[in-house]
Order: sequence, then C-alpha cells, then structure tokens
Amino acid sequence: MLARSAVRAALTNSRSFSSSAARQTKVAVLGAGGGIGQPLSLLLKTNPLVTSLSLYDIRGAPGVAADVSHVDTASEVNGYPADQLDQALEGVEVVVIPAGVPRKPGMTRDDLFNTNASIVRDLAAAVARVSPQAHVLIISNPVNSTVPIVASVLEKAGVFDPRRLFGVTTLDVVRARRFLAGVTNNHPKDTGVTVVGGHSGKTIVPLLSQTAYGKGLDQETWSKLVYRIQFGGDEVVKAKDGAGSATLSMAYAGAKFTDALLRGLKGEKGVVTPTFVKSDLFADQGIDFFSSNVELGPNGVEKIHPLGPISAEEQKLLDECLPDLKKNIEKGKNFVAN
Ligand code: NAI
Repeated sequence: MLARSAVRAALTNSRSFSSSAARQTKVAVLGAGGGIGQPLSLLLKTNPLVTSLSLYDIRGAPGVAADVSHVDTASEVNGYPADQLDQALEGVEVVVIPAGVPRKPGMTRDDLFNTNASIVRDLAAAVARVSPQAHVLIISNPVNSTVPIVASVLEKAGVFDPRRLFGVTTLDVVRARRFLAGVTNNHPKDTGVTVVGGHSGKTIVPLLSQTAYGKGLDQETWSKLVYRIQFGGDEVVKAKDGAGSATLSMAYAGAKFTDALLRGLKGEKGVVTPTFVKSDLFADQGIDFFSSNVELGPNGVEKIHPLGPISAEEQKLLDECLPDLKKNIEKGKNFVAN
C-alpha cells in the first residue's frame, strides 16, 4: 500500500516537474532602466509564466534588477550593464524592447526615427547573433518603422522568422476599450475593440462597428472617440509637459501582450489579439506589415485574421492609414538597406 502510494507520488512529482520544466521561460527586457522598462519589468516579475527575467539597459539595469528581484515571486532576476548585452540575451525565449527616446510635446512618433532606428537596429543585430530563436516584441517608436528595421536586420543575418516578430500595439487596444467604456457608460470588460493598421496617429484604425456598444454611436461621438484613440498618446505627452510619453499604461499594455504571447507559446488555444506583424492582408498594395487580430500559439503567430466586415467610415479611415503606413514601413527598410 505504502509502496504504491509512494510510487504514485513520485510519478505525480516527476510529471508536474517535467510539465513545469517545459514551461521555463526566460524573458529579456532591453531598455529596462527607462520609464516603460522599470514598471514593465516589475509586472513581468509578477507573471508566473516568466521563470527568469533578464534586464538590460545602457544605464541603470543592475539597480532595477536588484530592486525587482526582492518581489516574492518564484522567477529569478538578473541585471546587465551596458557592456553585457550578449550575456543578457543568452537563452532567452522572449525579448521585449522598450529602448529608445520618447516624445516631447509637439513631436510625432516619426520624429523619433533618427535616434531610435539605430538603437533598435543594433539590438536586433545582437538578438540575431545570440538568441536567433527568440520572439521579439518591439515597443520602441516609431513602431511602424522599427518593426520593419528589426525584420530587415534579422533577414540580413538569415534568421528572420515572421512568426516571431511583433510590434506592440496593445496600448491602442487598451485605450480603445477604456475610452469606449467611458463614452457608453459600460464596464471595460464589455467594450473590447479590435484596432488595426499601424501605431501612430491616422494609421491607428479602431473597428468600433464590430462591437456591441461601438456600432450605434452617433456621428459626433464616433468621430471624437476615433480621434481620441488615434491621438490619446498626445494627451499624456502634453500632461507630462516634456517629461516623456506614456510609461505606466504602456508597461501595463506591454505586460498584457507578453502574457498573451506566453500563454500562446505554452499551448493555450484561442489567444487572439491585435499586433503589428509581417502580413499578407495588404501586401498587394506594397504594405507587408500590418496590425490585425492575430492568433498566438506555440510558434508565435499562428494565424492572421482578416479585418472582417467594416463600415463605410472605417473604410475611409483605412484609406487614410495605408499610404502613411506604407511610407513608414519603407523608411524603416531603407534605413537598413542603405
Ligand atoms: P525612457 O527614455 O524613459 O527610457 C528609454 C530607456 O532606453 C532608457 O533607460 C535608456 O537608457 C534606454 N536605452 C537607450 N539606448 C539603449 C540601448 N542602445 N540599449 C538599451 N537601452 C537603451 O523612454 P520610455 O518612456 O521608456 O519610452 C521608450 C520607447 O517606447 C520610446 O521610443 C517611446 O516612444 C516608446 N513608446 C511606445 C509605445 C507603444 O505603444 N508602442 C507607447 C509609449 C512609448
């Protein structure tokens, strides 16, 4: 009797050990010392799907790591200074990149291109060298250009897999849900919105007509809401008055997207969220990156969903989005090509 229960216990233990071992996930944050990086690192420390957290920045990462490492969750945390990028990337399965400068009042995201393009290019080259199998999540702006930059760098290195590169547009989705809840007086759990296109101004296209509470809005409410979703980032930039752009809500959004990816990677079914990926949806118009609903699975991008039925007004938004998006994507590709 005793022997049999001991065997059963041993089997159960080894089974639970092997299944949790299969879910060991090391996540790196590049830019972990910044306004987004710090709270994002904290939120990832609280995610049970993250077993090891690797924090890198050109300044301040060891301090952030020491601080975050005292949070009483199981994951281990290591911080790496400027000259230890390769060490930070060793064995990582997911790399989240919020490195780069944020906007000041009056700036567009495209104004950040000159500084952030080379930062992202160099970090992507390190990923290609050290952890070419990693899933790469780009937060650094302008996302419409930085994602094509990373794709081109990985492609040049011969390690690009379009299923493993994501532009994080989750903040637009978070804002759309929150703002629609506000104007219709509902709980945000009931006001999810699919946001497609890109991640800046007019390239952000919320598909309100596909939602129960968004489809009946009068014209004026709809227009104001769409504007607020597209330019909500400016509210934060203005209110921070020179001290940067969204950091806390962005850390929340970044942690939310990372969690969705980790759930997909470990085999959860039906994890679907908008993200900016290499996509065929508008490739016939020369636009080969686009954000739409994407199903996430064990290999990253499992399935790219089409837009579905959209209203005439949303078609107009899309018509305005596409030319800008195309320019942003080409700008990113040309930067690496030249
Ligand atoms: P921040 O200036 O507070 O932090 C950026 C961090 O990046 C700094 O700690 C800096 O030392 C680090 N960094 C710079 N060069 C680096 C390199 N080569 N390697 C590693 N780290 C490096 O800026 P914040 O507010 O955290 O914003 C970061 C980026 O995220 C900006 O480009 C911003 O526009 C973007 N962003 C994106 C959003 C999105 O929805 N995708 C929303 C809000 C901001």
